[in-house]
Amino acid sequence: MVTESERFIAKLLESRTGQELTQGRSWRIGTALSGIFREKGISNIDQLVCLLDAPDHAILSQQVVEALLNNETYFFRDRAMFDQLATKVLPRIAERKAIAKSISILCAGCSTGQEALSLAMLFQDQRSRWADWTISIDGVDVSQSAINSARSAVYSQFEVQRGLSVAQMLAHFTETPTGWEANDALRQMTQFRVHNLLEPLGGSAQYDLILCRNVLLYFDEPTRQKVLGRLVERLDPAGWLMLGAGETIADKASPLKSVRNGINLYRRTDTDLRA
Ligand SMILES: C[S@@+](CC[C@H](N)C(=O)[O-])C[C@H]1O[C@@H](n2cnc3c(N)ncnc32)[C@H](O)[C@@H]1O
Repeated sequence: MVTESERFIAKLLESRTGQELTQGRSWRIGTALSGIFREKGISNIDQLVCLLDAPDHAILSQQVVEALLNNETYFFRDRAMFDQLATKVLPRIAERKAIAKSISILCAGCSTGQEALSLAMLFQDQRSRWADWTISIDGVDVSQSAINSARSAVYSQFEVQRGLSVAQMLAHFTETPTGWEANDALRQMTQFRVHNLLEPLGGSAQYDLILCRNVLLYFDEPTRQKVLGRLVERLDPAGWLMLGAGETIADKASPLKSVRNGINLYRRTDTDLRA
């Protein structure tokens, strides 16, 4: 049974981020908010809702939203997708951009940065091939705390071991007193900013590749359509979109079509893909 207060909190999350806390996930509320309970000296959601009803609750409501977001991520999550990017997608983009020698990538819902840095490692592992290219990987996320972590590019021993071999860890990260810091070569390719995918992206970049993985899962259908529409607007006509494992676009009217033999890979249908 979902209580009134849980419904209030779920509505707050949904109105700010589009993320739904379905009944099956409402058990997360208490666990996710336990840090805030401790900090505020309160013991339950009803008391939290009272605080959120008071004036000047802007900081607290942002804290609540951030605590409820699922930031789960790790390096090379779903490795087969990164293999596909390295062997199939990036070589095709490279052919098409051979004169401009620049590639723009967007990680939409990048969490704490591991996805964007994994992409940067693909380029860095073939550095002679990409030596004279400009590689730009933009990571955006609605969570300020996730973006702060991504910008710091410092990971705990546990985080850095999730998805990276020891050889990759040593090749791309340096151990510091605060954790494992991504090397400059990776940091130069990546930049991170707070952005809500429900809003227009801003700027004018057309992306050759957009990753939006494990983000759409908790949007309702109209919100998924809205977010996908915004991403398509910024996907180069010959670009590629990659969703997460288990995320599909079933809508027949969608301007995106899945790539045959691709893993969660989509391209635009409204353009000439021979480019
Ligand atoms: C489960 S993580 C996925 C991270 C990464 N893409 C991956 O697959 O490993 C989902 C991320 O989407 C972000 N997110 C959720 N709703 C968002 C929105 N409306 N705008 C931007 N980011 C959002 C969350 O803050 C979270 O960091």
